[in-house]
Amino acid sequence: MIQIRKLKQDEQPPWELLLLADPSRMIVESYLKRGVVYVGEESGDTIGVIVLKETAKVVVEIMNIAVQQSSQNKGVGKQLIAHAIEETSKRGYARLEIGTGNSSIHQLKLYQQCGFRIVGVDFDYFIRSYDEPIYENGLLCRDMIRLCYTFES
Ligand code: COA
Repeated sequence: MIQIRKLKQDEQPPWELLLLADPSRMIVESYLKRGVVYVGEESGDTIGVIVLKETAKVVVEIMNIAVQQSSQNKGVGKQLIAHAIEETSKRGYARLEIGTGNSSIHQLKLYQQCGFRIVGVDFDYFIRSYDEPIYENGLLCRDMIRLCYTFES
């Protein structure tokens, strides 16, 4: 098990991890201003990050999630998402959302395993928002798939 804690105001965010999930430093900086950063630690080392941001009165979005390469595929991502679900539920929000690329096959699997359902597509989001084309799993990343976890009321 990893320890998950909120990053303090005066601490540096784990940039290497944040940029693993989102190659645009400018976009990451924009959501860090109003986002809450949680870090996952193992033996004092930061091995994961998840950033939550309120996007509407009853809605929180996972803006970024990343696990360092050597620790991937061991359940750390699932633990970070479970923590986000717990925190959001405790605070009385109705929905937790996440967006990912059409080419992010493993992430789409992971989010659905964690209880998220596909609710929409933002067509050409990545073409509009990023200067360089992104390729993953032999696919051009062009559309953002929107997923949502709904809390029972
Ligand atoms: N290859 C194959 N399967 C993968 C995978 C990969 N690279 N990454 C995740 N999975 C699948 C696993 O099969 C696992 O399913 P299982 O439990 O049925 O075996 C499931 O996803 C959960 O994996 P988990 O170990 O909890 O995830 P993780 O700790 O590797 O974290 C990410 C997942 C996406 C956060 C991590 O891979 C990462 O940091 N990727 C780079 C950044 C990124 O893409 N962020 C998301 C942007 S939308």
